[in-house]
Amino acid sequence: MSSNIKKEYNLKIKLIKKYNESYFDHNKSIVSDASYDILKKEILELENKYNFLNSKYSPSKYVGFKPSKNFHKSPHRVPMLSLGNAFSEEDLLNFEKKISNFLSLNGKEIYYSAEPKIDGISASLTYKKGKFFKGLSRGDGKEGEDITSNLLTIEDIPKKILSKDFPEEIDIRGEVFIKNDDFKNLNVKFANPRNAASGSLRQKNSEETKKIPLNFIAYTFGYERGLMVNNQFEYLKKLTEWGFKTNPLNKLISGVKNLLNNYNQIEKKRINLDFDIDGVVYKVNDFAMQKRLGSVANAPRWAIAHKFSSNKAISQILDIEIQIGRTGALTPVAKIKPINIGGVLVSNATLHNEDEINRKDIRIGDTVVVERAGDVIPHILSVDKQKRLKNSKKFIFPKNCPSCGSETIKEFNKITKKVDAVRRCSSEGYYCNKMSVEKLKHFVSKEAFNIDGFGKKIVENFWKLKLIKYPQDIFNLDFSKIKNLDGWGKLSVQNLKYSIDQKKIISLERFIYSLGIRHIGLENAKLLSKHFVSFSKFKNLTKQIDYEDLLNIDGIGDTQVSSIKIFFSNEANQIVLNELEKVLLIKDAIKNSNNGLLKNKTFLVTGKLNGISRAEVKSLIEEHSGKTVSSVSKKLNFLIIGEKPTKKKIDDAKKLKIKVIDQVKFLKMLNKSS
Ligand code: IVH
Repeated sequence: MSSNIKKEYNLKIKLIKKYNESYFDHNKSIVSDASYDILKKEILELENKYNFLNSKYSPSKYVGFKPSKNFHKSPHRVPMLSLGNAFSEEDLLNFEKKISNFLSLNGKEIYYSAEPKIDGISASLTYKKGKFFKGLSRGDGKEGEDITSNLLTIEDIPKKILSKDFPEEIDIRGEVFIKNDDFKNLNVKFANPRNAASGSLRQKNSEETKKIPLNFIAYTFGYERGLMVNNQFEYLKKLTEWGFKTNPLNKLISGVKNLLNNYNQIEKKRINLDFDIDGVVYKVNDFAMQKRLGSVANAPRWAIAHKFSSNKAISQILDIEIQIGRTGALTPVAKIKPINIGGVLVSNATLHNEDEINRKDIRIGDTVVVERAGDVIPHILSVDKQKRLKNSKKFIFPKNCPSCGSETIKEFNKITKKVDAVRRCSSEGYYCNKMSVEKLKHFVSKEAFNIDGFGKKIVENFWKLKLIKYPQDIFNLDFSKIKNLDGWGKLSVQNLKYSIDQKKIISLERFIYSLGIRHIGLENAKLLSKHFVSFSKFKNLTKQIDYEDLLNIDGIGDTQVSSIKIFFSNEANQIVLNELEKVLLIKDAIKNSNNGLLKNKTFLVTGKLNGISRAEVKSLIEEHSGKTVSSVSKKLNFLIIGEKPTKKKIDDAKKLKIKVIDQVKFLKMLNKSS
């Protein structure tokens, strides 16, 4: 039991160590802030529960991580602490209860300074006799990096403070950040403004930092001599008098209910703020109380960060755009006010299809809840109808293709006996521009022609420049024109030419797939290529009887056949086939003999084989007229076992007296050695 817990703990520690190294050493965040926070919380909870768990890499042992090796390090005279997280009302009630018990308040109300938590990079600015003396990053909380010269470039940081009541010496602490709008205009690779702020603060050349519009908002202090205030809210007021910016949404609040109210209001305002926030920080207002409460591990008992959900956020629909796919499907996409969801700035959300828009009555201008879970495309969860603008109008889905003007249709699905939810452009071949570009992208894609260095961006680019319109154009490119384009040179043109030439020999199966015929994916293309064997037979598919013949292929049905028919009845497609034939060498498919060594024999593999993949085994079996099945049953003849096989499969096979063989025996059956 305890060894399992240790195992789980060590795994989590390993993960957080990796995240920390990547973020703090390489300035690269490989995990969303939200997932990071959850991992941190899980580690701390495990340590709380089981006191035998301990690691020097535990977040209870450090704040942040060691500063980058590039900067001079300097100790913080008062450590820069981090904050515990709250995600729910229950967490907040617990937080308050602990404080109340600790201070024996007997239900006396506690006032908090509630401050929107800006998602930036914290910095500590030391002032001596009113002069900005030195600025440090947080580093590991105990010592930071001396980033004074970079901080000096920030306008919001006062360099000299003349106010009489400004302390003799003080470390003013706050957040360095980039405004959302500025981030959008910056051409940087960072996923969000926070990473961009971090990157620009932690680079050596302050002339470069100067070019990035960094801001500073102050909210706390470290070491001080001569600070004459008794509580946080007073301190925030003083900060503005001294010339610092503070958050205009800071509030003095008591009671968990009111904290929650304020939190909900701030979450709604979030999209209209010009800086990124990821929650609200609550600090016990009274400094005397703060002092009595002190801190545990690396976080104060008197403060907590109430985080926003890691996968949902409120935003507003600015526009609804209709995208057109390779097969003509019209997909509506909501352009939303950019919002940070779990560390990624989201500005598009899929609306799926016309029905979905109607069902949820989604309109331009609506306030909506957007969800982003894992790698799935963000989508709209719900519409806040109360927030709907007075002049809002129902969204009318276009009845004609926005790209080519053709009529759009919703097909009747014979299998489900329902009208499709998806509306499609009814044009065929290469009539619709948007569809054509998508077809070309498919043509060069990995499973199709897979032309090295010829990706989606290049397709778009060459299309715009009218260098390509049909697939055959790719093989007849005018390289002298490309050589003179921005970003291209002799060498890159040579490389492109080489990789295109390399792909002029192609299997029939890949070729059929690359045509992008609707309903003909990789598997179906394979079936068709085996059926036709040669390109010429495929190209000459015209007779009704030949189409009917296709229905005999196991796996090909009415839907596929009618789609192939539509493809061939289009003249542009016929021309494409003829033109491609001129420039390509399309290899015949190897027809499987149905009289091979494994005729009438069925196989199933369990466990990992050595040096040969499952897919390869399957194709070997099929090549020799054998069949593979997916479970142990009377129909099975041979169970091939590899490393770590499923015991149950072996037991079941033995019960049914099925032959159990290993890889060596299997290959011997084919007269091959392993
Ligand atoms: S107070 C002990 N106040 O949140 C108090 N922090 O997870 C520590 N932050 O490192 C900081 N807004 O980068 C404080 N109003 C605010 C804040 C704030 C953002 C950041 C800061 C800190 C982190 C804690």
